[in-house]
Amino acid sequence: MVTNLWFFKAKSESLEKLKRELPKINLSIHAHQSLPELSDLLNSQYLSSGKRFRALLFLINSNMFHTSPDEVLAFARILELIHSATLVHDDVMDQAPRRRDKDTINHLKSNSAAILCGDFLIAQVMKETAAGGRLDILKELSGVVEDLVVGQYMELESQGVLHQNWDRQIEIARLKTGSLVRSCFSIPGRLASLDLPTLKALELVGEKVGVAFQIQDDILDFSQNTGKASGQDLAQGMMNFVSIQLLRDYPQLKDELREVFGAEHPEIPQAWPLPEVCLKLRAYSKALLREATDQVERIQDRAVNEEARKYLRQVIEKLGDRTK
Ligand code: IPE
Ligand code: IPE
Ligand code: MG
Ligand code: MG
Repeated sequence: MVTNLWFFKAKSESLEKLKRELPKINLSIHAHQSLPELSDLLNSQYLSSGKRFRALLFLINSNMFHTSPDEVLAFARILELIHSATLVHDDVMDQAPRRRDKDTINHLKSNSAAILCGDFLIAQVMKETAAGGRLDILKELSGVVEDLVVGQYMELESQGVLHQNWDRQIEIARLKTGSLVRSCFSIPGRLASLDLPTLKALELVGEKVGVAFQIQDDILDFSQNTGKASGQDLAQGMMNFVSIQLLRDYPQLKDELREVFGAEHPEIPQAWPLPEVCLKLRAYSKALLREATDQVERIQDRAVNEEARKYLRQVIEKLGDRTK
């Protein structure tokens, strides 16, 4: 069951139709018969929930370019499996106890089990993508995973460093989050045999949406009821967009920030102007999303489904106010 379909609050018949499609994407996996625990862990802790936002973007883009429905569901699943694999591994890196309102595998079982579960998902992705016979897409998805790992590694290198390097943070977000979102735009374009300049334009839209999505995620790291533990980034000694913006606007808070940076249970002083900082970041993220929707408007192709383009715009705009 997909539990959180926040992005469908907009009144729209076609979005409602897509909403009904999303839960139909079967994400469950069946590992080796002699080891049911591996699939049980993945199916129960990760693959039965989540917003399925990447699948949604992929479905709308596929609609926009009239991609064949058979291919669409298989690739929507593959994209969500890649996403889940990176989350399973990310939770090990972040020592995260909760994800999608459930215990993480590292918390429930062990880091070693979680590493193997994540690897298993990537193997599943390779197998299913290869089965589709599209080497170009297998190559593209390998590039996505490569970017994702580089982004995560760059972030790891900054762990414990009280830095305020905004441009580096944008690059990390583009790589670790923007890369997969990029493919939710470019793979439908590839399946529809769009020309290279249009594919390039779509990739840039996807990366922009991904960066905006990560900025919102960093804001949500300071909130409750997200299905994840709150304050994870500070506890891990990891600067994020919020703490970087806080330092840039209020350099006098550096010593106070150092005190909670990497603390097991960081107590954020009430006096910190976090609401202002988050508001500013939200506005920045919305500006990025607006740029993305403007670029979506400029995509030229004879066969664009204009209704789908409209829904894509709506969904991207909605991201600016996400609460989960
Ligand atoms: C969380 O992604 C990880 C990031 C890239 C920020 P989502 O917020 O889409 O997580 P789920 O899939 O809904 O759990
Ligand atoms: C990691 O970013 C995003 C990935 C690409 C896996 P975060 O560490 O901020 O993601 P959450 O907050 O744990 O979901
Ligand atoms: Mg994390
Ligand atoms: Mg986060």
